[in-house]
Amino acid sequence: MCDLIHYRVEDGLALIGLNRAPVNALDQSLRAALINACERAAADITVGAIILYGAQGLFSAGADIKEFGTEACFAEPSLPGTLTRLSEIHKPLVAALGTLALGGGLELALACGYRIGEPGARMGLSEINLGLLPGAGGTQRLPRLIGAESALNLILSGEQIDAERARMLGILDRIATSAEQLLDEARAYAHELIDCGAPARPAEAWPNPAEDLPDDFLARYRVEHEPRWKSRLAPRLVLSALEAACLLPMEEGLVRELTLFKQAEASRQSRALRHVFFAEREARRIPQIEAAVALRKINKIAVIGAGTLGCGIAMNFADVGIPVALMDLDGRTLNRGLERVRENYQLSVKRGKLSAVQVQQRMELLFGTLDYADLSDADLVIEAVCEKMEIKQQVFLSLEKFCKPGVILATNTSSLDIDALAATVSRPQDVIGLHFFTPANVMRLVEIVRCQATAPDVVATAMDIAGRIGKLPVISGNGAGSIGNRMLEPYAREAHRLVLEGATPAQVDAVLTGLDLNMGVFSMLDLAGIDVSFLMREANRAAIAHDQSYCCLAEELYALGRYGQKSGRGFYLYEGRSRTEDKEIVTLAEQLARELNVTRRCIEDLEIHDRCLFTMINEGIRLLDEGIALRASDIDLVWINGYGFPAHLGGPMHYAEQLGLDTVLNRILHYRHVQGEYGEMWFRPAALLERLVAAGKCRIEKI
Ligand code: 3HC
Repeated sequence: MCDLIHYRVEDGLALIGLNRAPVNALDQSLRAALINACERAAADITVGAIILYGAQGLFSAGADIKEFGTEACFAEPSLPGTLTRLSEIHKPLVAALGTLALGGGLELALACGYRIGEPGARMGLSEINLGLLPGAGGTQRLPRLIGAESALNLILSGEQIDAERARMLGILDRIATSAEQLLDEARAYAHELIDCGAPARPAEAWPNPAEDLPDDFLARYRVEHEPRWKSRLAPRLVLSALEAACLLPMEEGLVRELTLFKQAEASRQSRALRHVFFAEREARRIPQIEAAVALRKINKIAVIGAGTLGCGIAMNFADVGIPVALMDLDGRTLNRGLERVRENYQLSVKRGKLSAVQVQQRMELLFGTLDYADLSDADLVIEAVCEKMEIKQQVFLSLEKFCKPGVILATNTSSLDIDALAATVSRPQDVIGLHFFTPANVMRLVEIVRCQATAPDVVATAMDIAGRIGKLPVISGNGAGSIGNRMLEPYAREAHRLVLEGATPAQVDAVLTGLDLNMGVFSMLDLAGIDVSFLMREANRAAIAHDQSYCCLAEELYALGRYGQKSGRGFYLYEGRSRTEDKEIVTLAEQLARELNVTRRCIEDLEIHDRCLFTMINEGIRLLDEGIALRASDIDLVWINGYGFPAHLGGPMHYAEQLGLDTVLNRILHYRHVQGEYGEMWFRPAALLERLVAAGKCRIEKI
C-alpha cells in the first residue's frame, strides 16, 4: 500500500492511518489511497470493523485548499463521492480523532458510523472561513446527527469545539482516556461493536433534523442574521443547504449540497478568502531570516505609558500568562490605567468569557510602577507614550540606562522615523517597531517594523511573541506610517476633499460600508480621535504643506475641540455610541470650499469609491516598490486586520487585481486630468503600477 496510508489488519480489525504531512489534507492522491484501503478492508472477510486515524496523530484538516479553483478539486475520486462510498460499506467504521478534525476532515468522521476522540481533540466545520460551505456531506449528515439548529450554529460560526462539547452535542460517541490511549480504545470500541453485532451505521439520531423547530425557523433565522452577513454569499448558501437537509431525503440533499458548494467554490469571495488563508501563512516567512534563528527569551514584558493603548498592549501579555510591568511617570494615569484594565476584564466576566478567578490571575500578572529601575529584568519593553519624537527619545535614553543588555526595545509609533529613534541609543540592533492597533487587546494586527540596524533575532523574536499573544504579525520597513497608516493617508485625504467638493461624511461612509468595510473613514477618524490624526499630520507637515485643502476640515474640527466620539462631536454628533449627521459640517465645508476656491457639486458614489480606494491602492503599490512592504498579500493582511477591510474582498491589493490593474491606473489618470491642480498634485500613478500594466500583469508583484 502506498505510504500516504498506513494499512494493517490486526485481530479482525483493519487499521487505516492517514499519512499525508503536515495536516492530512484530503487531496486527490490521499482520497484515492483512502478509498482503495477502505475497499480492501471491506472485501477482506477477516475484517469485522475498520478504524480510520491520523498516522501522525492529527486526523485531518479537511479538503486540500490548494486544489480549490483547479480541476483537481473535483477530480475522481471526489471527496463527496469518497465519503458516500465509505458510508455505504457494510462494516462498522470507527473514526479515531486525534488533535484536529476540520472541514472535510470532520465530514470524513461523520461518514463513519462511530467516532471516538482524544480528550484534547478539536473539531469543526471551518469552511465558512474560506467562503465555502461543507461540501462533502457535512450539511446533510451533521443535522441528522445533532439536529438542524446546532448544526447550523456550528457551520455558520466555523467554530472549533473541544471533545467534551462534541460529545455533549452527539458528534463524538466516546472520549478516550488520553491521546496515547486513543488507538487502543478505538480498537476496544470496534471489538465491542463487532461483538454486539452493531450495524455499520446506527440509526439517525435526527431523521427529521428540524422536528423540534417552528416551520418558519430558517426563514426567521435568515431575516435576523442577514444584516450581519452583509454581502457574504457563503452564509446564505449554508442556509439553503440546511433547508435541503430539513426537506429532502439524504441522497437529494447531498446533490443539492454539491451544487451549492460548487457555486461557493467558484465565487470571487471564496477565492479572496483562500488568498487570505495563504497570505497569513506566507506572512510568517521573512527573507534573510532563517527559520532556525535562535530566539531571545521573553519571560517578562514592560509597557511604558498607561494610556488606552499601553493598557491594551499590557493585557495581551497578561492574557497568556506573561508578567507585565506597566509604567507611567504619572501616578494618576497609572492608577486610572490599571483600573481601566480591571474594568475591561470585568466586562469579559459579565459576558461570560472570563471567570472572576481568571481576572484575579491576570491582574496579579500586571505590576504598576512609576520607576524605570523596576524594568531592569524586562526582556521586552514596548513604549506607548504620546506620538512625539523628543518624548520617545527621552524614554529610550532612560531605557538604555536602566534595562539589561539584550532587552528588545520596541516602539509603538505609527508615524515617526524609527531609525532616528534607534540612533538615540547605543544598541540600535535591539530596536524594533511594534505597532499595535487600538483597542490593542482586541485588534489582531501588529506591524513589525524592521529598522536599518535591527538584528535578525530581534525580528524573529518579535514575530514569535506577537504570535504567542494571538496576534497576526506583518513585517514592514521603516517609513512614516509603516504600511497601514501610510495608505490611510491618501484614503482619508480623498474622503476629506470629497466633502469639500460636495459629498457629506455620511455619503462617503455609506459608500465604504456598502463595500462591506467595517466602518467608513469618518466614523473611524471620529473613533480614533481627531486629535490623534492631527498629531500624525503634524509629524508629516513638510510633505503636505503644498496643499491648502489637505484635511483642512479636520484641522478646523481639531481647532474647535471636536475630537470625535470621545468628545461627543467630530464629523458626526454622538450620544454615547449612537451617531447622527451634523449639518454644521456641511456649513463648515461650504465655507472652507469658498475660501479655497473649490467648486462644490453633486458627487456620485462611484467617484467616492474610486478616489478613496484607488489612491489608497496606489500608495500600497508604491510601498511594495519601495520595499517597505514585502509582499502585496502582506498589505492585504494589514488592511483586513487593522482597518476593517472585508476579508471576502481579499484586501485592497487583491481587490485591485480583481477589478483589473488597468482599470485602477485609468481611473487614477482620469482624476489626474479632471481634478486640475489638485489632480496634478495627488493623482500620480505609482511607477510600479504603470510597469505592471505595461507588462500586461494581472498580479501585483515587484517587477
Ligand atoms: N489544505 C491544504 N493545506 C493546508 C490545509 C488544508 N486544508 N490546512 C493547513 N494546510 C497547510 C498550511 O498551508 C501550512 O502550509 P505551509 O507550511 O506550506 O505554510 C501547513 O499546512 C501547516 O498549517 P498552519 O501553518 O496553518 O499550521 P497551524 O498549526 O497554525 O494550523 C490548522 C493548522 C488549524 C489545520 C490550520 O492550518 C487551518 O485552519 N487549516 C484550514 C482548515 C480548514 O479550513 N479546513 C477546511 C477546508 S475546506 C473543506 O474541507 C471543504 C470540504 O467541505 C469539501
